[in-house]
Amino acid sequence: MAADDAATALTALEGLLGEYRQGNIVAPSAERMGMEQHAGPLTARWDERFPGFPSDTFPYTSFRGQHYRGRRDSYLKEIIVESLGGRGGDATIIVNPACVFGRHARNLASRLPRATVVATDIDPGWQRLYRLARMGRLPANYTFVKDDIFDSHLDLEPTAVVFFGACGAVSDAAIDYAISRGATFLMCRTCCHDNIGGNVAITRRPGGVNRFFRFKNWAYGRMRTSARFAGFYFSDRYSPRAYPRSEAARDVTTADELLAVARDSADSDICRAIIDLDRYVHLVEKGFGVLYQGEMFVAERKAQTGSSRPAGSLAGRQSARD
Ligand SMILES: C[S@@+](CC[C@H](N)C(=O)[O-])C[C@H]1O[C@@H](n2cnc3c(N)ncnc32)[C@H](O)[C@@H]1O
Repeated sequence: MAADDAATALTALEGLLGEYRQGNIVAPSAERMGMEQHAGPLTARWDERFPGFPSDTFPYTSFRGQHYRGRRDSYLKEIIVESLGGRGGDATIIVNPACVFGRHARNLASRLPRATVVATDIDPGWQRLYRLARMGRLPANYTFVKDDIFDSHLDLEPTAVVFFGACGAVSDAAIDYAISRGATFLMCRTCCHDNIGGNVAITRRPGGVNRFFRFKNWAYGRMRTSARFAGFYFSDRYSPRAYPRSEAARDVTTADELLAVARDSADSDICRAIIDLDRYVHLVEKGFGVLYQGEMFVAERKAQTGSSRPAGSLAGRQSARD
């Protein structure tokens, strides 16, 4: 099964790399055709297991797609709740790195009252601000811990690692945290694929999304030179040499090519998917079964037996909204 998973993802990765090399990116028709042709089998697998992907609000790279990412996060939270809700365990530990205010983690804590939910971020300021502004009670099973995901000191064995947008290498570090700490599940949405391997450059193109990403990376570039923001977003552990993440992808691409893909990713779902499918194969190589669609992963450790049940089907669910 894992071999099948890896083969399907590698075939998709090679197909999308082929489109990239031929310059079939950015134009909406090329993006749609490329994604449907090469990532289609992975999408079908996801849809079979988790019907209800909010495709109407994910119309390829655009401000609209960015604006409605919350729909995908809500849908992902449904999957998390259904996957973990039946475990019946006070022993269920959910870790949410790069949580900012912790809103998703608190929501999960309320919906999974028997689980322990630990939200982490390198920057505790947002959490403090939330507490100050709200002055309310937090769910009893929710905690915030200041933690650098590139060098985590969190002494936990999480059941599930979840995140809802983690920029570039922060996604890779959170994925590796799930792998190295023995998590059964990784359920997440990646973002800012341009920021892998220490990259802050964007291929300049017309359009608001491109301008937004260039502005963001101007800010990230400035942060990187400030001692106050040491450890934020970038790490030597995730330098260009750390890419591709998977062994198998090293036979089909190079670090230089993936960094070029990253620079094009602001305007291209094909480029984002290339970076994500390398992550997919990395997870399969580390023993996970993986489903992927629209920058979202649901991965379950294959070796796990006994109390964990497979991620549940969302069949019959009407819709998920924030
Ligand atoms: C794009 S936001 C993540 C979005 C978020 N998941 C949400 O709920 O909307 C990026 C967050 O990553 C955090 N971050 C940056 N570098 C980090 C690191 N090394 N370890 C942990 N968090 C980090 C930032 O402080 C920021 O809160």
